Amino acid sequence: MTAAGVTVAEVTVVTPDVVAAFARLVPQLSRSSPPPGEAELAEMVASPATTLLVARIDGEIVGTLTLALFRIPTGLRAWIEDVVVEESARGAGVGEALTRAALERATAAGARSVDLTSRPSREAANRLYRRLGFEARDTNVYRHSR
Ligand SMILES: CC(C)(COP(=O)(O)OP(=O)(O)OC[C@H]1O[C@@H](n2cnc3c(N)ncnc32)[C@H](O)[C@@H]1OP(=O)(O)O)[C@@H](O)C(=O)NCCC(=O)NCCS
Repeated sequence: MTAAGVTVAEVTVVTPDVVAAFARLVPQLSRSSPPPGEAELAEMVASPATTLLVARIDGEIVGTLTLALFRIPTGLRAWIEDVVVEESARGAGVGEALTRAALERATAAGARSVDLTSRPSREAANRLYRRLGFEARDTNVYRHSR
């Protein structure tokens, strides 16, 4: 069920309100990553591998999620990335609406599973994902920092 008043849509054109929304939202997700500018957002919108979703309440962008879809030898992979909701709009189902919309799109594209990672300290996020049916996998997550 989608929370009352929340609409989720794919960004197809990078308008100034989209650029401004990412400038507000990305610092609420990461202290180290600068928000994407118009060119980076346009690159994501143009790429067949990324679906940029935004949630709106009364026309205002209050959250975003990126669905990454790409084919590898074992099938079509789907990853949910960079989920963030405006602090003042949290707890109202916006994150749930974004995640459900991503799951629907991944299924429609032919993905048989959807992956994501979330640090244990992100308690609200981990509760949300488990409530929506995500199950922890026993695997090691590695990163090679460059
Ligand atoms: C994780 C996040 C996207 C969830 O967005 P949201 O719109 O609050 O999500 P929902 O309302 O659908 O549900 C989130 C859960 O956290 C609770 N919650 C989150 N913020 C809350 C708040 N300010 N007050 C009360 N409850 C809150 C909700 O009640 C809900 O809990 P439940 O599943 O036990 O019912 C949001 O908290 C966020 O942007 N956090 C910072 C960035 C982040 O951690 N992103 C995830 C990266 S993996």
